[in-house]
Amino acid sequence: MKIIKVNDQVEGGQKGFEIFKAGLANDAKVFGLATGSSPIKFYETLVASDLDFTDCISVNLDEYVGLSADDHQSYHYFMKQNLFDKKPFAKSYLPNGLASDIPAELKRYDQVLADNPVDIQILGIGQNGHIGFNEPGAAFDSNTQEVQLTESTIKANARFFENEADVPTKAISMGIGSILKAKQIVLFAYGKSKAQAIKATVEGPQTTDVPASALQRHADVTIIVDEAAASLLSK
Ligand code: F6R
Repeated sequence: MKIIKVNDQVEGGQKGFEIFKAGLANDAKVFGLATGSSPIKFYETLVASDLDFTDCISVNLDEYVGLSADDHQSYHYFMKQNLFDKKPFAKSYLPNGLASDIPAELKRYDQVLADNPVDIQILGIGQNGHIGFNEPGAAFDSNTQEVQLTESTIKANARFFENEADVPTKAISMGIGSILKAKQIVLFAYGKSKAQAIKATVEGPQTTDVPASALQRHADVTIIVDEAAASLLSK
């Protein structure tokens, strides 16, 4: 794993931008994207740049079950606001949070991923080490899944909702196995609250208790961290 320490999210976003720019120059076509606070500065940097994704495909990690693409709390809406409306892709895929047949939707998304192998996957990390919405206990070889969010994730995500009771309790997420198929992975983590998860991801054993520790199995992972998120690393 390659660790890049940055001063702040702006510098982290710039590093991510450089990786996407190099990817485009090397014919990367499919970009795996994440929501949440960690990639926001990165998306701002992409938007402000002259990079062109109109020939490219994006595939997002996850979506809440029960929220439509137009719901302001949905990940689809987040992506439109932060990236797609200003920097369009030829095609952008997200799980459909309103799918009436969830097993069919999981299959559809696995097919999307099979048809569009991800060149570069962006990740954030949960305080409990989750990636996508793969919570502790998720199998390392999992495909797209419907997941029950843990109490700690619901609490952490409540900051984006008016009431904690409004936070959906389920999501559809790419599995850890799906994430590991990306050719290259870039994970952003900022702040003290991520320090423990980063230490366990980088220096701990590979264990399903820390979903991100599965990234140790991947040959091309870059972790972009600020001082606080890196503070518990021994080296
Ligand atoms: C978002 C996602 C999540 C977040 C993680 C960190 O699509 O899959 O795993 O990356 O919860 O969220 P932030 O960046 O808000 O701390």
